Amino acid sequence: MYNHRLHQQINNTLKSEGIDIAEADNLFYTRFIANAPAIASLAKEIYGQQNGYENFLSQLVSIITKAHINRSESLKQRDFEKEQQDHWFLSNGITGMSLYVDRFCGNLQNLVDKLDYFKTLGVNFLHLMPVFESPEGESDGGYAVSDFRKVDDRFGKLEDLKNLQQKMQQENMYLMVDIVLNHTSHHHEWAKKAKEGSNKYQDYFYTYPDRVVPDEFEKSMPEIFPESAPGNFTFIPEMNKWVMTVFHRYQWDLNYTNPGVFLEMIDTIFFYANLGVDILRIDAPAFIWKKTGTSCQNLPEAHTLLRLIKQCVHVAAPGMALLGEAIVAPKEIMKYFGTGLYSARECDVAYNATHMALQWDALATGDTRVMLAAQHEILQKPYGTTWINYTRCHDDIGLGYEDYMIQHAGYNPFEHRKFLKEYYSGEYPGTAACGALFSVNPKTNDARISGSLASLCGLEKAIEKNDSIAVDISIRKILLMQAHTFFLGGVPMIFYGDEAGYTNDYSYLQDAGKSYDNRWMHRPVIDWNKNKRIETAGTIENKIFAGTQKLISIRNKIAAFADHKNITWLTPHNIHVAGYLRTDEDQKIYCLFNFSNQPAFITWYIFKEHGPAATKLYDHWQEKEYTIGNDYDYLIIEPYDFCILEELK
Ligand code: GLC
Repeated sequence: MYNHRLHQQINNTLKSEGIDIAEADNLFYTRFIANAPAIASLAKEIYGQQNGYENFLSQLVSIITKAHINRSESLKQRDFEKEQQDHWFLSNGITGMSLYVDRFCGNLQNLVDKLDYFKTLGVNFLHLMPVFESPEGESDGGYAVSDFRKVDDRFGKLEDLKNLQQKMQQENMYLMVDIVLNHTSHHHEWAKKAKEGSNKYQDYFYTYPDRVVPDEFEKSMPEIFPESAPGNFTFIPEMNKWVMTVFHRYQWDLNYTNPGVFLEMIDTIFFYANLGVDILRIDAPAFIWKKTGTSCQNLPEAHTLLRLIKQCVHVAAPGMALLGEAIVAPKEIMKYFGTGLYSARECDVAYNATHMALQWDALATGDTRVMLAAQHEILQKPYGTTWINYTRCHDDIGLGYEDYMIQHAGYNPFEHRKFLKEYYSGEYPGTAACGALFSVNPKTNDARISGSLASLCGLEKAIEKNDSIAVDISIRKILLMQAHTFFLGGVPMIFYGDEAGYTNDYSYLQDAGKSYDNRWMHRPVIDWNKNKRIETAGTIENKIFAGTQKLISIRNKIAAFADHKNITWLTPHNIHVAGYLRTDEDQKIYCLFNFSNQPAFITWYIFKEHGPAATKLYDHWQEKEYTIGNDYDYLIIEPYDFCILEELK
């Protein structure tokens, strides 16, 4: 509802800052006034009951205004251009890579020299794993941040990051960095002051003088790293208090019931926005609100906070999209896109974690029915939002999809997950995969899976055995998995090293700061001599790189692969084959993937179920033309192969 007082307050703030609401800053002003009622009502929902709420709101108005003032003209221009495109991130022309700067090429300066490598592959979007200061040995791969605004010396300086961003912008590339919203390192200035006894900073975290409240919380809070960091609280002798540490003991959870914490963090979000970040990855948003008696995940207040962040960002940095890294149950993931009035007004992007895990399910069983059973939920995503689609990332693979999906395919959920864990950890007799179980919880029998794309697809064992047939099969599996994610709709995100077939790296076991966390086995250190082999035809590296490159180029040239809610899953004619149809106006592309180790037969009838059928199809992958045959004849797809079939007019 229109709020006259707030309008006046905004006018006054803008006036005192010399903002030209009629001319130069008119777009900003319009967005501000349009979004102000939502900002005020969301803020009130969370902080309205607290003393000083009015003051909170006026500080928020100032922070948003300052963010606009600090935004460079070139970023404002880029915002404008992105707005013209209407949801720029839905495009079929964006392919990402996620990488650790140090493990990829040493530091940020060197990364500038690698831009050509990305260009050759077709990657134009980079997710830099956390580069802000994080104590070595207690860093959780950079997700324990001790200074949100200082680039860690390991990677270079803030200037290097700015320089990289500028170079990327000139090349029309996009940048993603993380905001680790849920916690700080215990070496962060706020935590240090809390340890020194400051009440103000102890209130930045959840601190308790005894175990009464922590014990209450523990009754319903699951453990995230039960092996390496059991429990959710850590005793801090310096302050003689317990502090909430949901992840590792060195990661202190920020207390968002304190409005001061929100203001600090929204200011940091704008700091990142003004560095030129195109997509901000909000780390672990499911955890940002805690309440006794709950799991402290996915609470409604977490969504209110995210919506508030979104509306503020939309005012001062409209070109920056928000990715909510919620790796939670399928129904819960969907809520991060916003619901009701806020549908498509919360996070713009989320990880398609359900689908990622379901692909691994299909690869192990050769049966796509569990994956199909999940699609009706995955398809609920509102228009104007998109997925990050991926096969592997720096984290483990969780099998967190619903039991009913497994039951739908006729399997017992407990036995089925047991099989998958054994299959990928290499225990199952005859499995090609070699990974490991991560975060085994003996109390719940839960476990996730670590391992690189190549090792989980059998390449490591095949090389070890010097078995060229097995090598070829593993390469097919790798490309099948990538292809299946690339064409789904959403931004494909390659994990660095996977484009060149990196197998597990076990050197983390020799490093005390990493050995407790086997996710490091799939976070390789790039050997550029090995990567040179991508240029030599016939090498493993070359086959995988060239295949990935080809997938990207196919995706780039076909408009139907943009994410406009233009996907239809094909009715299952063969349980081993997953198939979906992508459309754009009268363009139709059938994508079919055989997840089994046997040739799969699909009747030509499948191409006649979705409107008038053409007589010919062109497979962009094999570069081959087909004539659609009789309903009782078959298209045959080789083991672990796929087709990207365009209807020819
Ligand atoms: C996210 C990150 C993961 C990290 C956790 C805690 O899930 O992806 O690597 O351990 O947050 O920050």
